[in-house]
Amino acid sequence: MSGSCATEKLSPWWRRASIVTMVFGLSVLILLTIKVYHEAPPVPDKVAGADGTVLFTGDDIRDGQQVFLRYGLMDNGSIWGHGALLGPDFSAEYLHTLSLQYATSVAQQRLGRTLDGLAPIQRAMVEAEARVALKRNRYEPQTGVLVVEPGFGDWFRNQISVWNVYFSSSVNNGGLGAATISDPAELRQLSAFVAWTAWASVATRPGTSHSYTNNFPFDPVAGNTPTADAVLWSALSLVFLLGGTAVVLLAFGKFEYLGWKSGAGHPHPGPTGAPVTPGQRATLKYFALAALLFLAQVLVGSAVAHYRADPGTFYGFDLAAWLPSNLLRTWHLQLAIFWIATAYVAGALFLAAALGEGDPPGQRKGIDALFWALVVVAVGSLAGEWAGMRQLLPDLWFWFGNQGWEYLELGRAWQMLLAAALMFWFALLVRALIPALRDPERREIAGLFLFAALAIPVVYLPAMFFNATTHFSVVDAWRFWIIHLWVEGVLLNSS
Ligand code: HEM
Repeated sequence: MSGSCATEKLSPWWRRASIVTMVFGLSVLILLTIKVYHEAPPVPDKVAGADGTVLFTGDDIRDGQQVFLRYGLMDNGSIWGHGALLGPDFSAEYLHTLSLQYATSVAQQRLGRTLDGLAPIQRAMVEAEARVALKRNRYEPQTGVLVVEPGFGDWFRNQISVWNVYFSSSVNNGGLGAATISDPAELRQLSAFVAWTAWASVATRPGTSHSYTNNFPFDPVAGNTPTADAVLWSALSLVFLLGGTAVVLLAFGKFEYLGWKSGAGHPHPGPTGAPVTPGQRATLKYFALAALLFLAQVLVGSAVAHYRADPGTFYGFDLAAWLPSNLLRTWHLQLAIFWIATAYVAGALFLAAALGEGDPPGQRKGIDALFWALVVVAVGSLAGEWAGMRQLLPDLWFWFGNQGWEYLELGRAWQMLLAAALMFWFALLVRALIPALRDPERREIAGLFLFAALAIPVVYLPAMFFNATTHFSVVDAWRFWIIHLWVEGVLLNSS
């Protein structure tokens, strides 16, 4: 806050620019999200082998997604590139091994040789046949049935033993602990989910020449190579990012009235010199909490890094039996969000008192209550993630345990409490800023301050627009809102 803020009125162009940016940005994002609802890869009602036997159903796929989430596997590996790097990309792994298996069986049938025993030209022919088979989309939207190529069914049936080996030891799975999942029914459901994600990543989207995921993951054996559009749009996005930044800098450098002050000259920020209010003093404990959370985040981050280097043992101690890598990675991400949010919430309360030039009645009590609400959310959700991953909350895992979506691992009930706490925080800011809103000199900056603050609880709401069985693509669209708009855009930029 500037010591001479009464004479340095904020330029109204800040408000106008914020509104234009928000309207334009949100319109594009809403359009893209609607597109995802319409164009997400279909989940078949039934997936059948070439002989007509049902391999798995749509319910198996949805149940498998829940297994994936309930056991925190998005903080071990990833699906379509979204998730962690300690384990594999499950969809890519399935696709690649299926492609090799299929090519191997073609090589055996046609030429009586293993893949490695083929001459380069023969191998090219065999792999081309495998690519054609993998790319062919045999899903019938009218019946909801997907009939897979001969050989794909055997590969699916083989998956339970593949995953059994994966989950059997920390060394294999990046520190998940031994026998994380051993129930054959759950392994079958997980396999159904992973097999479906592999299918969607390779089968040709009707009316196009690429897969439902734009040929992601890259896998030349399966015929997944980047499309021309993917290359073009990736390059264009960089050009627009750099070009847009240049335009903004040019405009601010050239036109004085776009700057911080509505008049000419530059502002000179400095301390207000006003005495610290009781409400401001009450924010001190928030900063102590943020420091503690940060320390905890760095410590668990270091343990995650250890798991990457040596997943089998922690200097001779079986850490994975107590604190598996996916739990620590979950805590690493959640703690980051908590300490940033705590510091931001406290900083805004401190500044609001400075801008409002004092505390409204009862403000300190409100600030204390909010602090304890944040402590409850942080401690409760971190403990819930531990209990959820240990499968101690059989029916309540989604609500109080580990919801499992990377960055949004905390249970839904904790999310709701967090959103309510943020609304309460906004109310505290409004109370503190009422005197500034009444003053024509300070109205503009107080209004913009509140506008930025309101975006925080509001933009968090998409985190609640899905559940554990919602289509993976749809959830990922909403996760994009949370990670890139809420965390990176609203929370970090508005501070
Ligand atoms: C000593 C400090 C830190 C260490 C050793 C550390 C370690 C790690 C490791 C090993 C991963 C990768 C896990 C994987 O393989 O998937 C990771 C991911 C991550 N860390 Fe840290 N970290 C540290 C500090 C921080 C801080 C201060 C922040 C943010 C405030 C942060 C935010 C993240 C995020 C967002 C990811 C996920 C990245 C992604 O998967 O896209 N880390 N960290």
